[in-house]
Amino acid sequence: MIINRLVAKNWRNFQQINVPLRERQFIVGPNASGKSNLLDIFRFLRDIVKVDGGGFQKAVKDRGGVSNIQCLAAQNVEEVAIEIHIAESAISSPIWKYAIGFHQEKHGDCFASLTHERVWREDELLLDRPDSDDSEDPDRLIQTALEQSATNAKFREIGKFLRNITYLHLVPQFIRHVDAIQGKIIEDDPFGQGFLAKVASVHPSTRRSRLKRIERALKLAVPQFEKLEFVRDKITGQPHLQARYEHWHSSEAVHQENQFSDGMLRFIGLMWSLLENDSIVLLEEPELSLNIGIVPKLAPLISRMGRNNKCQVLISTQSDILLKEGCIDGREVLLLIPTREGTSAQVSSEIHDIRILLENGFTVGEVVLSKTRPNYIGGSVLMK
Ligand SMILES: Nc1ncnc2c1ncn2[C@@H]1O[C@H](COP(=O)(O)OP(=O)(O)O)[C@@H](O)[C@H]1O
Ligand SMILES: [Mg+2]
Repeated sequence: MIINRLVAKNWRNFQQINVPLRERQFIVGPNASGKSNLLDIFRFLRDIVKVDGGGFQKAVKDRGGVSNIQCLAAQNVEEVAIEIHIAESAISSPIWKYAIGFHQEKHGDCFASLTHERVWREDELLLDRPDSDDSEDPDRLIQTALEQSATNAKFREIGKFLRNITYLHLVPQFIRHVDAIQGKIIEDDPFGQGFLAKVASVHPSTRRSRLKRIERALKLAVPQFEKLEFVRDKITGQPHLQARYEHWHSSEAVHQENQFSDGMLRFIGLMWSLLENDSIVLLEEPELSLNIGIVPKLAPLISRMGRNNKCQVLISTQSDILLKEGCIDGREVLLLIPTREGTSAQVSSEIHDIRILLENGFTVGEVVLSKTRPNYIGGSVLMK
């Protein structure tokens, strides 16, 4: 299943978002346009339903409270609202719809308080809060029905789906020096500190087949690369990844992950997570530290790896090279355009002059990024 529509109101630097989403969706915009803020909507939903240490109040608190979430550009709007449509594919009608709205309680303990919470299965409204129980006991509005097993029996599937959302912003140094850094692993490990342990923990046959597929992808991307293997240190038992290259004759000549380039390590981590997940993977600027030769190959690889597992991949990026790949459809690119009234989010092929250029054979990478620049003047894309 995928989320094929996102509606949001008053979220960070967005006053309004109402966009369809594809199986592979690029979120494109300049620095500080809100790419991470948009991905954070999905992380917020996941945080609400997290089994240990989750919940609506914690999700709001971890973001600095309602006042930090409310859009500074929206005056006198208190309610923050999110709605998602969950469907089998980008083009099918939703099986589930989930909507939530909240504001800051004015009195009492300053909790975030629900203004509404609604669930539809197909078109049947299963939950419509506030309901009579909430009116009798308004304290109930500090918890969502979604996070409580006593109240979510009819729509538990939504929680299960959201719980598996994965956010990745891999930092090669964290993957590589996990022992030396010995830092606290951040919740859900977005930076990859536990990556090697994760590779070690899956069944050997699953591990072999995933590494084989990553090996195939690496061969396309890294010259002379030949083999990727999982090994354990003979003395300490520590898990390692090991690479062999074609031109090395000695069988001892192998590199372990602490010698891999940043780009190669990030690439392996990204591909692993696409193979591992069957829900939604949020990739934060995957082009960072990748060799320029690999970047154009990312889009088709993401698509192939994701499709296999039927997972949805939402990718924030600023890279026109990543988007130059001819296989990217204009509907797969969401443009974030900063304005004085906050950022607007638009599907690129719904913007008239972009659509004309795409129809005339330009790639999204060629036409889209210049449009997101704050000083864009309509029609000037070709003149740059
Ligand atoms: N509540 C808010 N209202 C308006 N703008 C906000 C709010 N919270 C954060 N921002 C702005 O969002 C921007 C950061 O967005 P971010 O998602 O990190 O951008 P990107 O990932 O595209 O670089 C910053 O300029 C920050 O000031
Ligand atoms: Mg960002």
